[in-house]
This record gives sequence, structure tokens and C-alpha cells, in this order.
Amino acid sequence: MTISFDEAARAWHLSGPGYSYVVELCDRGMPRQCYWGPPIPDGAVAALGGGRSRGYPVDDSVHTGVELLGELGPQFATPSLQLRHPDGAKGFAWHYSGHSVDGDHLAIAFTDRDLTLTLHYRAWDTGVIDRWAVLEAAAPVEIGRFDSAAWTLPHWSGYRLSHLSGEWAAEWQLRRVELPVGETVLGSRRGNTSHQANPWCAVDDGTATETAGEVYSTQLAWSGSWRVQLNRSTQGRLTLTAGAGQEGLRWNLAAGERWETPVASGLYTAGGFGGASRAWHEHLRRHVMPTAEEDAAVLFNSWEAVTFDVSEEKQLPLVELATRIGCEQFVVDDAWFGARTSDRAGLGDWWPNPERFPNGLKPLIDAVHERGMRFGLWVEPEMVNPDSDLYRAHPDWVMHQSGRDRTELRNQLVLDYSRPEVAEWAFATLDRLLSDNDVDFVKWDHNRPFTEVGQPGGADPDRVHIDHVRALYDIKRRLRRAHPRVRIEGCAGGGARVDLGIMPYVDQVWTSDNTDAGDRVAIQHGFGQAYPARAMGAWVTDEPTGLNRRSTSLRFRFQVASAGVLAVGGDLSEWSEAELDEAAGHIAVYKDIRPVVQHGVQYRLGDPEREHLTGVQYVRGDRIAVLAFKTPSRFNRPQAPLRPAAIAADERWIDEDTGETYWGASLLAHGLPLRWAGADWDSAILRLRRSA
Ligand code: DGJ
Repeated sequence: MTISFDEAARAWHLSGPGYSYVVELCDRGMPRQCYWGPPIPDGAVAALGGGRSRGYPVDDSVHTGVELLGELGPQFATPSLQLRHPDGAKGFAWHYSGHSVDGDHLAIAFTDRDLTLTLHYRAWDTGVIDRWAVLEAAAPVEIGRFDSAAWTLPHWSGYRLSHLSGEWAAEWQLRRVELPVGETVLGSRRGNTSHQANPWCAVDDGTATETAGEVYSTQLAWSGSWRVQLNRSTQGRLTLTAGAGQEGLRWNLAAGERWETPVASGLYTAGGFGGASRAWHEHLRRHVMPTAEEDAAVLFNSWEAVTFDVSEEKQLPLVELATRIGCEQFVVDDAWFGARTSDRAGLGDWWPNPERFPNGLKPLIDAVHERGMRFGLWVEPEMVNPDSDLYRAHPDWVMHQSGRDRTELRNQLVLDYSRPEVAEWAFATLDRLLSDNDVDFVKWDHNRPFTEVGQPGGADPDRVHIDHVRALYDIKRRLRRAHPRVRIEGCAGGGARVDLGIMPYVDQVWTSDNTDAGDRVAIQHGFGQAYPARAMGAWVTDEPTGLNRRSTSLRFRFQVASAGVLAVGGDLSEWSEAELDEAAGHIAVYKDIRPVVQHGVQYRLGDPEREHLTGVQYVRGDRIAVLAFKTPSRFNRPQAPLRPAAIAADERWIDEDTGETYWGASLLAHGLPLRWAGADWDSAILRLRRSA
């Protein structure tokens, strides 16, 4: 990656594999993006500018190209930086004061009144550019909105938005819509990332496909309320802003204080939606996730098997059966602590329930370890049930406002981690739990959004929104440092807290509480747009799950879940001998393809929302694993074959299960030799090895 500065053009050029990004200073001193796209030579930078000769682009006062949309002069889009000074003046007038380059990192500083605003850029070898901003105040100022970045897209005749939306147990639905003129807002006002929207989105000109076309995509590294705003002007230009927070929040910066936004990452790719996803996957695995190079274990999770009926006595037989089928990690999910025998009590009291675990957790942990498995424990440390010792001792520790009801959701309230004593309690409690027990894995859950966010008597109550999330990151950072062997699964009632902000602190995530394998095919298709298979927890559970009362074969359920981090969540004590044997076989196959699935390059073969036969192909070195799925067909039409990606006609590939060799040419022409077992809700795994 290189970052160069053209003194005469007053422009910075960031470039890396497959991309260039140019910021110039226009004559009002505003930093304006004048190029983002395929690589260009340094010599062309000056020719791309043009902002210097123009002040505000009066022809289009919604689209200005400024790196953070402002509120001074004829700028009429929703400002991405909103400031109010004590004397009533608003906004930030850009006065360039210098820049620094340190390897892949560029910082451009500006001053106005008593403020210094620094725009930061990091150019990655994955095509991703990170952007964030820092405001330093020498005098007090009120912040109403402070986005991480504004991104300017090329002037196209149309813009299509791809985004992920859903709800509890139905997250990750991929939607594609033509962007209207005006403002389109994606976001969360829930205090967490949310099931409803995810801070990933992509924009193309309406012609990109899975395999070809230019795609601009972004992700925001933030796990609280957030906002991505797409502004399509009447003149036909598009600006995208991304930042933490929600409309209506305000906080104060005191003299001497510094405020740093989270990172917003942008990515330009030319290889269609698939190319964009692969670049994000690589970026997350190589630069964001903490242990992505490790093989994630095949785990057993007790939740769907026993829900709240957790005890040493009930767990031990499951340990035995989980070992027998080849699980490598045993996770006790919920109800092991305090008075937690239902969702009405116990959250906050993080010690083993003495009736359920009369000798503490040790006998169960020992049994798990003796069988060669790792031991995992569920926690939900940001929450408290009013019926708990913690709440009885500290009713003021929850987010609340004076004179307002404390709305309970799932019978629980949210602890206010912005209060240092609460954050310290959380760290100390978890630290003790992990020090006193030989725990290898923690599932960190978060089952409700925030309501009545505030802090009675607090000078700056809206800060709770931001400071809670920062404290959460800090606690996880400290725990990881104190317990480097422990791996963490991020969870929020399924997939409500999956984003680039949480990813450095978790080793994998729980994708969705919807474990219906048929629905999972689409859920995984959406998840994979932004996040890699290495992060995607996928359980095999008992069907019907209660969501849509469908029953599919064990093979289908295992093979769908084998496209991510495979786990088992069914009640093994109800499985027949034949089912346990079959499960062991599927897990053995998964362990064989695991390095290819978890660390390989992913190609989506088809779109399960539109096609009945689809697949996911993973490539690593000389191996390919294809997981193919059939959803119900109609009218008995012959199915077009599923053709592989990333295979050349002159290569030869061996089917590792049958020993048969195929020319790439024939795989491309006739499709993959998939061995189906049935018709609808069927699946197949194909393992290919390149022949010398
Ligand atoms: C929600 C999670 O998504 C589930 O997997 C499970 O852990 C429950 N919470 C436990 O209460």
C-alpha cells in the first residue's frame, strides 16, 4: 500500500491491490474525495481533482463530496458532523493544518475555533480502506452527530443498494433495491447492532452480478445504535455516511477532551458481489478476527436440548453422547447459575446454582475434559433480572431515567456499563469465574435492546449509549488478555450483535436462533455477504424447531451446518443408535473439510432466494469442498446443473470419495457430480482434489 501527497494538487493518493482513493483540498480548505475506484498512477492524481477551482458545488448542494458532510454554507444534506458551540455558532469550518503519513496510515488535520479535527485513513492489502475521525476540543462543544466517514460514489445513472435485514430468528435476509432520490437510512436505535439491520451494505449501478461488476461496500465497526445514510441527490450523485449513534442524541465535549469515532471501512471491488464478499472475508480473517487461523472446534450446545433444565445430572449423559459422535467442545447454555430456572430470575448472580450443581461446576468440567473435550459456559453479563441478588443490592446499576418505568424485556434490564463501578464489577465477576473454573470457551449473550437509556443525575446521559459499548469492548479486551486460552462466542439473541466492532473480541458468532436447516440456507447466504464461514456458528438441532414445523433429514441438517462452524444442539438423549452413528459420520466428514471451509475462499453457487439448487464452494490449496442444497422444486422441471467456480478447463480433479477423475472442462460444461439422496430438502457434499 502506498500513500503519496501531490503538493501542487494538494491531494493525497491512497492505493493498494485493486484500488486507488484520492482526497484533495478544495479552495475552501474542505477535504473532498475526488476519486475512488480501480488503481490509477500517481501522475493522474492532479488531473482528477477540480475541487480547488470550485468552492461549494452549487450545482448540487446535497452532494458535495466532502469527507464529512458539514452544516455551513450551501450544504443541504443531513450533516454527518453536527456541532454546537456555547455561543450558538454551529458546524466546523475546515482550515487545513497539516498531515502525517506513517506506513499505511494517513492523518489529515484541520482546525476551527478551539477544535482540531483529524481525519484518519488506513489502506489495507485487502482492498479495504478504514476511516475514522478524532475531535479534540480546547473549549467545550456539543456534539449532535459525528459520523466516521462520508463516502462518495462514482456518478452513475442509477444506484442499487444491497443490504441485510430481518428480525429475531430471521436475520440476514439479503435485499436489493434501487435507491430513490432522497435519503435512505439503515440503522439501529436499539442500543445494539440489531436483528433488523446490519451495518454492512453494498452499492452497484444495477448491473453487477454475483461474478462480475463494480461494487462499493462498507461496514461500520460499532456494536451500539448506528446509522448508515445514503443520499441520492436530484442531480444524480450518491453519498454514503456511516456512524455511531442515533437521531436525537447529544453529548458534550469538555475543554481538553478528545472524541474518537469508530472505524467505518470501505471497499471497492470489481468482481461482482462474490468478489466483494471474498475481500471482506479475507479482511476479517486476516486483520480483524483474533484467532481466525485456528480451526474452530465442533461444539455441542445444551440450549435447544434442555433449555432451562440444566443440572450436573442432566448434562453428564449429554457429555457422553457428545463425545461419542465426535464433538470437541461442550457448552452449557444458560440456567447453570443463581436462581435461574426460567428466564424470570437469576441474571446477574454468576455462581453455580447449588441445587443443580451441588459440588460446583468442577465435576462436570472434569468429565468434559476427561473425554478430551473443551468446556464452555454461557453468560449474559450486561443483563440483570430484577429477581436477582445483584439487582436487590444495586437497583441503580441499570440504564434508567428518573420518573420513568424501567421496561423489562424477557424479564430483564440492562446494566449500565458506562458507570465505571458496573464495568469493573462485570470484569471482576467474569475474571473470577474464569479463574475459579477451568473454562475454555464463553458464549457471551445479549438478549434485549436498550430502553429508557439514561443516567439520573448524570451530566451527559446520552453518553451512556456510546460509553456502554466502549466499556464492553474494554472488558472483552481485558478478559482476553487475562485468559488468553479462552475463546469467546458473540451472541445477541442470535445474530443481533455481529459487526466489525465486536469481531476483534470474539472468535466466532452465533448466527441466528433460527436453526431450521431449510431457513438456514438463506440465512447463511445473507450472513456470507459480509462475514466469513469461520465466524458463522451453525447448529444441527431437532426438527421441527417450532418455527415453521418442517422436518428434514439428519444428513440435510448436518450438511447445511457444515458450511460454517459446525455444532450440534439437538437432544442427543433422544437420538437413536443409528442417528448417533450417522451423526458421527457427518462430523468426521466435516473435520476432513474443516480447513477448506473455515480457512478457504468462498464462492456462492446460486441464490437460494431465487433458485432451487444452490451451493457454497470453498477452495483452499489443491482442495475444493462443495456443499450443495436443494430447496423444494415445482412442476418437476429438469434442474440446470450446478457448475463450479475457480476451476480451469485444463485442470483435472479427483472426487475424493469415489476416486473418479474429472476434467475441469467437463465440470464446467456438465456441472458437479453431486450424489443426491432424495428430492426436496436434500443436500450433498463433494470433496475434490486437484490431480497432478
Ligand atoms: C439466546 C441465544 O441466541 C440462544 O442460543 C440461547 O443462548 C438463549 N439465548 C439462552 O437464553
